[in-house]
This record gives sequence, C-alpha cells and structure tokens, in this order.
Amino acid sequence: MQTSLTEAQVIQIIEKHGKEARKLISILLDIEEASGRNFVDEPWVALVSRELDVPLSKVYDVLTFYAMFSTKPRGEFVIEICKSTPCHFNKAEQVVDWFKEALGIEVGESTLDGKFTLIRTSCVGACDVGPAVKIGNDVYGNLTREKVDILVKSYKQALPELREEFLCQN
Ligand code: FES
Repeated sequence: MQTSLTEAQVIQIIEKHGKEARKLISILLDIEEASGRNFVDEPWVALVSRELDVPLSKVYDVLTFYAMFSTKPRGEFVIEICKSTPCHFNKAEQVVDWFKEALGIEVGESTLDGKFTLIRTSCVGACDVGPAVKIGNDVYGNLTREKVDILVKSYKQALPELREEFLCQN
C-alpha cells in the first residue's frame, strides 16, 4: 500500500456519493484527489468494488480507459496535453516538446521531486484555443513556448498569479 489515505476516509468518500454503480467515476476521482499523489491505490480499487457491488474487472476497466486515472502514484500536478485532432493540427506535438524540456522528463514520467507528471489525453474542451493543456482542474490554451515556461514556473514555485491570465474560462 502506497497511499496515505485510510480505509475510513475512503468509506467516507463512498458514502458521500452513495453506494451506486453510476457514482463509480465520481468516487474514483475523489479518491484520486484525496490521495495527494493523483492515484487510486490497489486496496481502494478492491474496496470500491465491494462497496458498490461492481466487479473488480469493471473498476479496472474504468481506471485504465480514462487517462485521468492512475493506479500508480503520480506528481502533485498532472499535466495533460491534448492529443485530439484539432489540437494535433495546432502544433500540440511542439507543446509536448516544450513541456518535456521544461520538466526534464518524457511523457508518462514524473519529476523526481514528485511535483509533475506529464501525460497525453483526449480533448479537454478548449478546441477553439488549441493547442491546450489541462493541469489539475485548470485548462490553458493558445500555448506558446513562453507560456509553457511560465506555467511550469508558476506551479513549481506556487505562484498562481503568474498563470491567472492564461486560464481558459470554458
Ligand atoms: Fe484539444 Fe479539444 S481538441 S482541447
């Protein structure tokens, strides 16, 4: 077990949503957020399966289908670079390179300080301002090299004011 969450906390999350199969994604999202490392630890996968009476394989199907989920610890901030067609044609691959250079990691990796994980994802709902990226719950568009560097600095040094003007309001 790698999580700092307790069983009681996970039960509390499940009860807050209600023990219904249709609440599965919301429950997993809350567990992931509460983990502090953006992941759903294996024991909680089993616990959710039991409590919701959903087959374990179904819970894993959900966890592996959506890029927003992980069963392995990730960085405090998960940087999700959109790979859907509109962003792809708007130089999303260049954005990937800029983040890789700024963070010193490859896609799928986390920085050694545990701050960032870099992944690709499907449309984040900001196609009109692509190339776009989602970091935590926030979305940023019209990315340039300069914006990427400022975003990384802003999250690294806990300076939210640096990135406020880049935030998408979608
Ligand atoms: Fe990239 Fe929609 S296609 S945000």
